[in-house]
Amino acid sequence: MDKNFLWGGATASYQCEGAWDVDEKAPSMWDVYLHENNLENGDVASDHYHHYEEDIRMMAEGGQNSYRFSLSWPRIIKNKNGDVNQKGLDFYHGILDACEKYGIEPFVTLYHWDLPQYWEETGGWLNHEVCGAFEHYAKVCYEAFGDKIRNWTTFNEPKWFVVNGYMIGNYPPGLQDPQKTMIAAYNVMYASALGVRVFRAGNYPGQIGIVHSYTPVNGVDDSIETKIAMRYADNYCNNWILDTAALGEFPIDLISVLAKDYDISFISTKELEIIKENTVDFIGLNYYSRTLVKPYTGGETQLSFNHTGKKGESKVLIKNWFEQVKDPNNETTEWDTEIYPKGLEDGLIEAYQRYHLPIYVTENGVGVREDVTVDEVKDEYRISFMNDHINAIMNAQDAGCDIRGYYAWSSFDLYSWKNGCEKRYGLVAVDFENGQTRAPKASYHWFKDVIASQGELIKRRNFN
Ligand code: BG6
Repeated sequence: MDKNFLWGGATASYQCEGAWDVDEKAPSMWDVYLHENNLENGDVASDHYHHYEEDIRMMAEGGQNSYRFSLSWPRIIKNKNGDVNQKGLDFYHGILDACEKYGIEPFVTLYHWDLPQYWEETGGWLNHEVCGAFEHYAKVCYEAFGDKIRNWTTFNEPKWFVVNGYMIGNYPPGLQDPQKTMIAAYNVMYASALGVRVFRAGNYPGQIGIVHSYTPVNGVDDSIETKIAMRYADNYCNNWILDTAALGEFPIDLISVLAKDYDISFISTKELEIIKENTVDFIGLNYYSRTLVKPYTGGETQLSFNHTGKKGESKVLIKNWFEQVKDPNNETTEWDTEIYPKGLEDGLIEAYQRYHLPIYVTENGVGVREDVTVDEVKDEYRISFMNDHINAIMNAQDAGCDIRGYYAWSSFDLYSWKNGCEKRYGLVAVDFENGQTRAPKASYHWFKDVIASQGELIKRRNFN
């Protein structure tokens, strides 16, 4: 690996900070949704709010040179008038100063799903006004932290939070409405372009990108029907985010298909021009698995996700478009995520050929139930998972792709959107029940050695 390659871990504000109502932080939509529905919440999570110095020191001691984290909009902006919470800014200055002290390059996401509840109450991402509010929030952040941050991203995973929130209904605001899904998707992509525009207008140093939940698409065979199903799946899973952010255009075949059944009058020509003119400098790809599809065979649209950690509960079928299938030959996690590192290699090559932009792998990891009361968690499965995915990145680099960083999800154990603190991803174990103590797992030490060797320690194989 190049000496400038960024090696680190990633987190998100809601999932790790805790301190949900301190120092004048406003509630986020997740605070309210989880409280109202009596679900496990991130009120305390990993209490990063009070442990960030220790967490960042451990990153540096683990040989990492970068930390990807998100800023919390409701911690920084107090209300719909856009008033700034100085205490929120101070908290992130503390994190950024700790990064500086320990030689860690910050890689910062503006929005990792914690919309302020005061905006959710006006319709959230269905309210076009929220796009302008995001632009204001972004500008406040660029002004406050512009001299400390060189790597910005607007949104984390538009596909994931829009589809789960507006179509499947398992994330706030809990809707199941395709028309509203489209409006939210459009508003988010427009807001992202506004975030890029105001970044460029201010001449802030550094670069700006977007982070996508990348599931490269494979088909069950080479038939024309399967190829059509693959295109539908790619538009649904990937293209409406990546084409729009990187090329400045929503996929035209997706729009024309949607226009037959839905009202698309919310799309404005003037805003499409803004999207066209404000494309990103790089793309961040979060990779957990691929999407394997076959042609649609019948039935109503069905989208269900595994929220229990008991295998066999997920299903994706979109009427007239495609059906997702499982490859019985591959291992899956308890949450039905197929372990398929080849998908990362193929996907990186495809994305690089398509967008010709630098790529960062902004999340990659495996969620499991783990006993953290032992001296050291011996997470050999995580080591093997990370080895094979870093191997996939190296193979893609050998094929000519410009890949500049790798972030393990997650830097330390944190709150998962599925099964809360039970589903662990961290390189560092957090004992949530006993004083939030931190202890490196075997994967943390392994990752340190891999970084020190600049990837030479990775056991290489050719997936083809
Ligand atoms: C990504 C998100 O989708 O996957 C993270 O950016 C998330 O926020 C991660 O935690 C793992 O997903 P989950 O649902 O297992 O927490």
